[in-house]
Amino acid sequence: MKPIQVGLLGIGTVGSGTFNVLKRNQEEIRRRAGRGIEITMVADLDTARAQSVVGAGVQVVNDARAVIANPEIDIVIELIGGYGIAKALVMEAIAAGKHVVTANKALLAVHGTEIFAAASAKGVMVAFEAAVAGGIPIIKALREGLTANSIQWIAGIINGTTNFILSEMRDKGLDFDVVLKEAQRLGYAEADPTFDIEGVDAAHKVTLMSAIAFGIPVQFDKAYVEGITQLGATDIKYAEQLGYRIKLLGITKRTAKGIELRVHPSLVPSRRLIANVEGAMNAVVVNGDAVGNTLYYGKGAGSEPTASAVIADLVDITRLHTADPHHRVPHLAFQPDAMSDLTVLPMSEVVTSYYLRLRVADEAGVLAKVTGLLAGAGISIDAVLQREADEVSGEGGTSTDLIILTHDTREGTMNDALAQLQKLPTVLAPIVRIRKEELN
Ligand code: HSE
Repeated sequence: MKPIQVGLLGIGTVGSGTFNVLKRNQEEIRRRAGRGIEITMVADLDTARAQSVVGAGVQVVNDARAVIANPEIDIVIELIGGYGIAKALVMEAIAAGKHVVTANKALLAVHGTEIFAAASAKGVMVAFEAAVAGGIPIIKALREGLTANSIQWIAGIINGTTNFILSEMRDKGLDFDVVLKEAQRLGYAEADPTFDIEGVDAAHKVTLMSAIAFGIPVQFDKAYVEGITQLGATDIKYAEQLGYRIKLLGITKRTAKGIELRVHPSLVPSRRLIANVEGAMNAVVVNGDAVGNTLYYGKGAGSEPTASAVIADLVDITRLHTADPHHRVPHLAFQPDAMSDLTVLPMSEVVTSYYLRLRVADEAGVLAKVTGLLAGAGISIDAVLQREADEVSGEGGTSTDLIILTHDTREGTMNDALAQLQKLPTVLAPIVRIRKEELN
């Protein structure tokens, strides 16, 4: 049978990896897919560089629309990124009856509902394994492998840049700004790292996982997003002393009131496997009612790891494109007419436990005042750690750090209590609050 023909839009790091892996493993991929898969046309603004990657046998153009317009092309891979031209091209490819493979988490987290609806109406597939956790087949696991389960929660380290920075901060006792500069110098962080360090990239990814896990529309605008820019080495050190590591987690959880969807730094018990995921690696824990906890670990970025996911989608589409569209795996795991209307909860309704650090005057009654105020708000304390003033504020120092771990509390209740605590004259600096997840 004639090989399936693929058009590639954008041949940067992931595009090159896709081309190379597809070529290197073409015989095995053909045996798996039942048909050859070939990239026969590439669009890139830098045509000379693109041609040097793919060689003379592949047509290179600078106009992505020429790829979409080519009737020979069965599948379009979009690796341009962003919401602008990428969105227009994906919609045009769908309208032209092409199946689409994309690694564009931002596009799908924000415009996924519109894109999947257009694809369903046209009877084409939009596959996006590479959009979440790079080479880890987490979309496949959620959508197919765990399909028997009522998924209860997902917690993932789904941004390698921030995990690298946090690992370095912990290993070397350095603050965020110092490590970020080093990460940029080494090429681990981009020149403009905003989406990574502010938690936006992780929020795009957890939004997609949430939709698939719970059968809800993609709703990036409802996600709570907090990055790692405010984290200090001091809190990483104290967390360690209490038996925790701090990780940037993407969390989505089913509760009686609705769905939690949030990204923020979290204390995780050091004994959990996910707490020991270091450097730029990614890991996702999924809890299903039947299976319990499952853990997925691997490279969340990079040329060939991400290509691994792109090509898995190409093989899936090659196997399924002749099937009746109604018998394919639905884009968001649930049939489009069987989606849930579970609401995504505002952050004030989220229930979690907390690490609090208060810089306080080292004088009689301070601890009693602080714990009394928390008790009055109905917040139960799990552990307290107080450092010696000398250790915190130097020889003869008069202030110290009071670290409190709480039991589960509604975030709105915690916000009110923190506002009151902050007003105490003996609380000398802005209170540090980091959420804590036991993940058990
Ligand atoms: N910038 C991402 C990360 C990879 O650092 O994990 C692409 O999503």
